[in-house]
Parts: sequence; C-alpha cells; structure tokens
Amino acid sequence: MTRQVLVVYQSRGGATLQLAQSLSAGIASASDLVDIEITTVKRPALLGTARDVMNADALVIATPEHFGSMAGATKVFFEEIWDDCLDQTRGLPWQLVVKAGTDGSQTIEGVQKLAKAQGWKQFRPPLLVVGEITENALNDVFELGATLALSLDNGLI
Ligand SMILES: Cc1cc2nc3c(=O)[nH]c(=O)nc-3n(C[C@H](O)[C@H](O)[C@H](O)COP(=O)(O)O)c2cc1C
Repeated sequence: MTRQVLVVYQSRGGATLQLAQSLSAGIASASDLVDIEITTVKRPALLGTARDVMNADALVIATPEHFGSMAGATKVFFEEIWDDCLDQTRGLPWQLVVKAGTDGSQTIEGVQKLAKAQGWKQFRPPLLVVGEITENALNDVFELGATLALSLDNGLI
C-alpha cells in the first residue's frame, strides 16, 4: 500500500524551505519502521493544484508570515484549490508549519480558518518557529514528519 504526503511550501529566504526539508527527511526516516510505502510530494505553493490535494493522504503547509498573514503565495495556493477541493477533501489530515520573524499568530489563525472551512482535520498543533532556525527547531519538525509517517502507517490518520 502506498500513501502520499503533500508538502506545500513557500520560501523566499530559504528558512521555511529548510523546515519543509527537515520534515520530509523525518517522513523518510520512518520508512524502515513502516509497512507501507510513503511518498512525499513537495510543491512550491504557487505550483500546488487541487489534484495534488485530492491525491494526498495527508497535507503539510509550510509558510512564512508576511505582513501579518500567510505569505501571498500560500494564499494563491488556497485560491487555486478552493472550489475544486471544497467538499471533496473533507477529513484530510493536515499539518501547519509557520516560520516568522517575530510573531506568526495571525498566519496560524488565517490558515486554520481556511483549513477548517475545507473540513480538514488538524494532525498536531501548528509548529511555529520564530526568529533564527535552531537545531531544536529542525529536530522538532523532523520528529513531526516521522510521527506523521508512523500515524499513516498505523491507520491513526
Ligand atoms: C516582506 C516580508 C514581510 C514579513 N512580515 C512579517 C510579519 O508580518 N510578521 C513576522 O513575524 N515576520 C515577518 N517577516 C519575517 C519572515 O516571516 C521571516 O523572515 C521568515 O523566516 C521568512 O521565511 P523564508 O526565509 O522561508 O522566506 C516578513 C518578511 C518579509 C520578507
């Protein structure tokens, strides 16, 4: 059996991409422990499509905060998929990762509102990284990826 994780990310400066890559590495690290094959599809937010979301068994959104809300590209992703996914992707497990300079709370609020309207099911509370990326932050997001993979394998999500 194969399950697919879609990682949609936006990153101008590379920090959010680093987090998305560590999360993907966490998913891959669990491959020896799981009975199923888990593939990770990584999509820059501007290239993500409704088909990508419909094909996914779990969705990760990794976005910076820009001007007090999600990055513009992340919003474009939602605009792109909105109508086609509505009522077609209810119950999709999803995870939010936010990278911010000083805050991040409004991005969390905004993305959660949209995900709720789509009927997606939050996997773990949003992972927020404020300021410089630390080894701890990379470990946290790696662990999150591994936990996501194990949960898919165990049928928990
Ligand atoms: C145009 C712009 C607007 C930003 N606005 C905010 C903001 O409103 N709140 C905040 O906490 N950080 C803000 N930041 C900081 C970014 O969230 C932070 O630098 C983040 O690490 C960028 O991620 P990236 O390296 O993946 O592009 C802003 C950065 C830029 C470039």
